[in-house]
Amino acid sequence: MKKIGVLTSGGDSPGMNAAVRAVVRKALYHGIEVAGIYHGYQGLVEGKIKNLDVGDVGDIIQRGGTMLYSARCPEFKTDQVQEEAIGQLKEHGIEGLVVIGGDGSYRGALALSEKGFPCIGVPGTIDNDIPGTDYTIGFDTALNTVIECIDKIRDTATSHERTFIIEVMGRDAGDLALWAGLAGGAETIVIPEVTTDIEGLVQRLKQGHERGKKHSIIIVAEGVMSGGDLAKVIKEKADIETRVSVLGHIQRGGSPTARDRVLASQLGAKAVEVLMENRGGVAIGIRNHEVVDYELKDAFNKERKDELSMYTLSKELSI
Ligand code: F6P
Repeated sequence: MKKIGVLTSGGDSPGMNAAVRAVVRKALYHGIEVAGIYHGYQGLVEGKIKNLDVGDVGDIIQRGGTMLYSARCPEFKTDQVQEEAIGQLKEHGIEGLVVIGGDGSYRGALALSEKGFPCIGVPGTIDNDIPGTDYTIGFDTALNTVIECIDKIRDTATSHERTFIIEVMGRDAGDLALWAGLAGGAETIVIPEVTTDIEGLVQRLKQGHERGKKHSIIIVAEGVMSGGDLAKVIKEKADIETRVSVLGHIQRGGSPTARDRVLASQLGAKAVEVLMENRGGVAIGIRNHEVVDYELKDAFNKERKDELSMYTLSKELSI
């Protein structure tokens, strides 16, 4: 392979820059040219493509966001747009593509691979929702951002003896909420993977109040319901006033943690190695601390890792 392309797509995540740097430097190290594709699949179709050199990815390892910009491109689902994309790639002499992103980005990569253009998926999303990898790039940083927010909210919750609801991102997955809830000592965690027992939740809150426990933290994953809706239910059923904090896009920003930078470097470099073996339709991940590659189509396998033990533990520790 003489020239490869790299793009970032979907919701950005801290560490994407470190992954771009790893792809570019690893390829150049092996004498392979690299084209940066700007603005995700949208930019690919529009031909926003520029060669990247060693210096172009200097000073980005510590930066959040993505220097290649990102976009969501719903039109990429159509055959015609996918063919146009392959046309652009070929016109620029690109023989393989590294796609850094989440679920939607992987779908685009799979479609191109099935049309004969080799693509490699590198998991970049704060949601940690890609099957086949224990962690995605950006999850650790987002988690630490959420923890920082919980700690701050806890101070005021304690001072005012209030119940706080903190809504966190994660799309349909509860990982961010679950990990943040356990690490932040939340009293209650509401995630899509566990059927929400609203009556039980309200009962526990009421009992806590009756026992004199006046402040508590509830973490709700956006995939279940909004913080505002949960606040209404609690008010109706228990007559308890709450305050709601929707953390929103703050969770997607910031300098990546060391862990995310290391993960991004490892996974980005592995993607280049797989392309050098002339393989496509492959996803890169980390399992039990080992960098792995597997069929891209298996990254859509709905079966997710079992984290119920963490949920149970959090309940046991927040009595
Ligand atoms: O997939 C990353 C993510 O931040 C999700 O957690 C969230 O649901 C979504 O993207 C928000 O998307 P947007 O930035 O397009 O509003």
